[in-house]
Amino acid sequence: MVKFKVVSVGCGIIANEWMKNVLSRTDMEIVALVDIRKDSADAMAERYGLTCPTFTDTATAISQTNADVVFDLTIPASHFSVCTTALKLGCSVFSEKPLAASMAEAHEMILQSERSGKSFSVMQNRRYDPNIRAYRNLVHSGTIGKPGYIGADFFIGAHFDGFRAVMDSPLVLDMAIHTFDQARFITDTDPVSVYCHEYNPPGSWYKGNASAICIFEMSDGSVFCYRGSWCAEGVPTSWEASWRVTGERGTAIWDGFTAPYAEIVAPREQKDKFIYEYSRVESDYTWEGNLGHAGCLDEMFAALKEGRPAETDCRDNIKSIEMVLGAVESARTGRKIYLKDFS
Ligand SMILES: NC(=O)c1ccc[n+]([C@@H]2O[C@H](COP(=O)([O-])OP(=O)(O)OC[C@H]3O[C@@H](n4cnc5c(N)ncnc54)[C@H](O)[C@@H]3O)[C@@H](O)[C@H]2O)c1
Repeated sequence: MVKFKVVSVGCGIIANEWMKNVLSRTDMEIVALVDIRKDSADAMAERYGLTCPTFTDTATAISQTNADVVFDLTIPASHFSVCTTALKLGCSVFSEKPLAASMAEAHEMILQSERSGKSFSVMQNRRYDPNIRAYRNLVHSGTIGKPGYIGADFFIGAHFDGFRAVMDSPLVLDMAIHTFDQARFITDTDPVSVYCHEYNPPGSWYKGNASAICIFEMSDGSVFCYRGSWCAEGVPTSWEASWRVTGERGTAIWDGFTAPYAEIVAPREQKDKFIYEYSRVESDYTWEGNLGHAGCLDEMFAALKEGRPAETDCRDNIKSIEMVLGAVESARTGRKIYLKDFS
């Protein structure tokens, strides 16, 4: 049986989520932990009872352990250097989102992945959930007809301290990638343009803009409207967002917590009615994969073994990061951004 040797780089908060989900896997072993702060790598080794060596430098860790996979769990500004170092040394890379901090970096990382023949895929844990899979199936099944509008609302009062409290565009740069990637996944479309208005509402405890409204035109002509805030107190939405997709014949709803459903025009003659009667349609799709990080890791490892791109391969994921960086550019310039010119 294949057993990948993994160097895990970046021993901060999210690395705990990865360790919890990988240490029981039989197709890999952690052969080194790396952090620029040696104390963090040592503490992580101790916390999870790992006896592997710890390093402060990714290249040294890879060469000394003969690794074949690198987990990049560092901050976004370090993703380029960690990923390209790993690819050059012959490792495949599984990275935390976001793929990169800029489009130029993203293109170069993808080029290096293609040149090296090594895979590079990105964690998009919110795709791995039975309800989003059922919702995607409901939208794709033709039940509501061809979609014209996709709406996602994300309103949560998240009291972070640390980098998110002081960074520019915390919502769009740090969180919206999940919802934007979910929109692409649910509708199987790619973004064409974006207009984003970012703002910091009264009562916000963030230094940067914690709220945004974004309007995307998608590749099938539909419109995706994202409305979000990380400083909205009361009546929170799910972290998965609250969704509405309207199509030719009806509407599909997912509140982000419970099973999705649709309402469609009832199949009877009602031409004389001002508002038609509707029938409710439940989603009968079931999906039994693992949730969140575990589900995405299953997919990344399966793709590596089968020699195929993962669902969240870098060449697909660049379209999600394009939505984020395009939105930030639109907010900065006050203009609608066509993503083919921007990327
Ligand atoms: N998928 C999710 O739901 C989710 C949730 C939270 C964070 N994240 C992502 O995970 C990544 C890490 O976030 P975090 O909250 O764990 O940050 P963190 O600051 O807690 O941890 C990052 C760690 O990386 C180390 N580091 C930085 N540059 C390095 C380098 N060049 N080499 C080695 N180590 C380096 C830091 O010292 C730190 O220990 C970010 O990209 C973030 O967006 C994803």
